[in-house]
Amino acid sequence: MPSITFIHPDGRSETAEADTGATAMATALTRGLDGILAECGGNAMCATCHVYVDAAWLDKLPPRSNEEDALLDGTAAERQPNSRLSCQIKITPELDGLMLRLPDRQT
Ligand code: FES
Repeated sequence: MPSITFIHPDGRSETAEADTGATAMATALTRGLDGILAECGGNAMCATCHVYVDAAWLDKLPPRSNEEDALLDGTAAERQPNSRLSCQIKITPELDGLMLRLPDRQT
């Protein structure tokens, strides 16, 4: 099972085992991790599943869709070049070890 590490703004980190094919957002929610709200349930409508992808992993993710790109303009915390919506990150075996930083707020 691929594992994902979520790093909180205070530096605390939590690692979760992810099901292949699940999204990073769903992995966080089903493992009870805080810091991701996902108000729209993963339908790319809310931008409350915002994460910052660690630089080492940026090239391993598929590019953003136009829809994701537009939504990222409405995140509560500042958008950065490595901002993604975690509901749009599908976990594959190649993403084992993925590191995602959580913003200081989602709303
Ligand atoms: S959960 Fe709403 S945009 Fe990702």
